[in-house]
Amino acid sequence: MTDGTAGHVPVMLNEMLACLAPRDSALYLDATFGGGGYAEAILRAARCTVWAIDRDPEAIARGAGLAARFPARLHLVHGAFGGMVGLLAAHGVVALDGVVLDLGVSSFQLDDPARGFSFRADGPLDMRMDRAGPSAADLVNALTERELADLLRELGEERAARRIARAIVAARAESRIATTGRLARIIRDVLPPDHSGMDPATRSFQALRIRVNDELGEVARGLDAASRLLAPGGRLVVVSFHSLEDRIVKRFMAEASGRAPAPSRHDPRGLLPSRAPQFRLLTHRAARPGPAEAGANPRARSARLRALERLPREADAP
Ligand SMILES: C[S@@+](CC[C@H](N)C(=O)[O-])C[C@H]1O[C@@H](n2cnc3c(N)ncnc32)[C@H](O)[C@@H]1O
Repeated sequence: MTDGTAGHVPVMLNEMLACLAPRDSALYLDATFGGGGYAEAILRAARCTVWAIDRDPEAIARGAGLAARFPARLHLVHGAFGGMVGLLAAHGVVALDGVVLDLGVSSFQLDDPARGFSFRADGPLDMRMDRAGPSAADLVNALTERELADLLRELGEERAARRIARAIVAARAESRIATTGRLARIIRDVLPPDHSGMDPATRSFQALRIRVNDELGEVARGLDAASRLLAPGGRLVVVSFHSLEDRIVKRFMAEASGRAPAPSRHDPRGLLPSRAPQFRLLTHRAARPGPAEAGANPRARSARLRALERLPREADAP
């Protein structure tokens, strides 16, 4: 493994490469640069050019070494991938041969207590990938009990959402909840560990992280933008790590490839002439990591990979 990925083991790297099938002279976007593992693998697979986006300024700064090793072939851009059309247009890029999205957080972010993503180590309750906007502490201390419960249930699928929300509101009446350690203790007091081996704080931390970074909104905007940027024959590969984001990816790809259920006859969309699909699915079911990878890398266990391809223009088709 190279310096660039020492802190983050890329998940389903071979499956991603097989779906993207990098070609010489082609232009790719790695929309979640992270530790650069995907970008480096794409650059090594073909004599292509890679644009890479990350909303975390630390990931972009860390990528400078990799960019120096691939002069004029790797270009790093700071920003959120939901805005990829504008971010790339500013550099004159308006069409791509492939886009990869490896969603969620990197090990660099998770393992640094100062970033506040982890309930395993004590640190400021932050969770902002781009270090801008309201932090997790701002939310935890400002939302009403009802809003907190809704957030934990909807984005964490947490069944004890109401009890946890009540405990948070009681605790913050004593003093502001400012650290990951204190929030984790409040949750564990409500929900003692069960036999699953999963920390009781897992789902609540996931919910807060998704909300702080508007992760589901970003996925929806990113998929739409990527599909508009893909040239005919271009491919979109997405790796997701929880059911909420995978559901968005699955639906988006089903609709784009004409596999979504037809609207009911009462739905006005049923009256519109239906357009021929512009994409085809490369994965009819989500691909999952093999047993060796799942055994070696716990982060890989929940991964699901889905991919689609923009169909060639009719005039170009064989
Ligand atoms: C799972 S890591 C990617 C790891 C990378 N594929 C590798 O091999 O090293 C996800 C990265 O995406 C970034 N990220 C997450 N959501 C983003 C968004 N909406 N826009 C831009 N970057 C985002 C995170 O900051 C993180 O660095």
